Amino acid sequence: MADVFTIPPARTPALTSRLPRVGTTIFTVMSALAAEKNAVNLGQGFPDFDCDPQLVDAVTGAMQRGLNQYPPMAGVPVLREAVSAKLAALYGRNYDPGSEITITAGATQAILTIILAVVHPGDEVIVLEPCYDSYVPNIELAGGTVVRVPLTPGTFRPDFAKIRAALSPRTRAIIVNSPHNPSATVWTEAEMLTLQSILAPTDVLLISDEVYEHMVFDAAQGQFHQSAARFAGLAARAFIVSSFGKTYHVTGWKVGYVAAPGSLTAEFRKVHQFNVFTVNTPVQHGLAAYMASDRPYLDLPAFYQQKRDLFRAGLENTRFRLLPSEGSYFQCVDISDVSDLGEADFCQWLTTDIGVAAIPMSAFYGDGFDQHVVRFCFAKKDETLHLALSRLARL
Ligand SMILES: Cc1ncc(COP(=O)(O)O)c(C=O)c1O
Repeated sequence: MADVFTIPPARTPALTSRLPRVGTTIFTVMSALAAEKNAVNLGQGFPDFDCDPQLVDAVTGAMQRGLNQYPPMAGVPVLREAVSAKLAALYGRNYDPGSEITITAGATQAILTIILAVVHPGDEVIVLEPCYDSYVPNIELAGGTVVRVPLTPGTFRPDFAKIRAALSPRTRAIIVNSPHNPSATVWTEAEMLTLQSILAPTDVLLISDEVYEHMVFDAAQGQFHQSAARFAGLAARAFIVSSFGKTYHVTGWKVGYVAAPGSLTAEFRKVHQFNVFTVNTPVQHGLAAYMASDRPYLDLPAFYQQKRDLFRAGLENTRFRLLPSEGSYFQCVDISDVSDLGEADFCQWLTTDIGVAAIPMSAFYGDGFDQHVVRFCFAKKDETLHLALSRLARL
């Protein structure tokens, strides 16, 4: 008989994975390889330059003023008011800061929380592939069924016949991302209107991932961000998600927001309060103070357009075929004339032998669809882009 005073061997229970298909992401793999090979990392999407020192001062000031305890669950009122004012000024829709705007720990938490709040087991959620890598695991965690609809290969425009065909009585939501990661397309007004009319007779929710809302190029040609907030029929069913990390060059701060009608926000907050409960207080106060000026986000398109144009001009000297970059901070290229390798192998080779890291488009598809396209991120100092271009010039 076992002696109760004998300490049994320690035992870690075996788990049945909730996400058996999830492994290390391609972003981690490529960033590690880029570091190992001393390659210029144009893979993962983050700036290699710092944010405005005034923003750091604003956050530091908030900490020094003792704003360091739990804020209200939905976010500090001054920041929600600033977000509301911005949405009204830019997109012409009034969101009540009290009941329709919630500050989140980045867009990633916002999207998971929305999905956990609205998707019941067995509900279908439409994703448009290629898509950001958190959507599918989020839906699976909620017990939902992922319905994958491809964006048109080559142009990455929405295929409304396929979207219409994917709708069923079990469809709970559709996730739309414009400006789009990874393809850098921006939905047009006509496309948003088409989506609005397709969804009009349904109870399908729209999860509108607008984290790159302030990075839409070619304003001179009449391009601008078509937020779901601009369209009454979409706004009434939409959770609009954005990220201060993208807008203010502070991806590591992980603060974002969700704007949605009151009844949707109420359900969202039920999950939010037991998920993160609250988000970093001094950062929220700092962001609110910084938002007193609209210049940083109004100047952002020109800032990134200069980088896009610099990068594209350099790539013109290679055999890459450049896809349009209408928004976001990504540039995709077709590699067919440069290499016969598949996208993932090409990215490994490019990192190892040429010294520039990129991300294969296939990483954004559930079935690894390979169309000889890779994605570069140009949210980098000009000198970083020049260094990358000098290496890519060999191709
Ligand atoms: C399309 C898209 N959605 C959401 C996110 C996540 O944003 P955050 O860093 O605020 O969580 C990203 C970040 O790369 C993204 O590209």
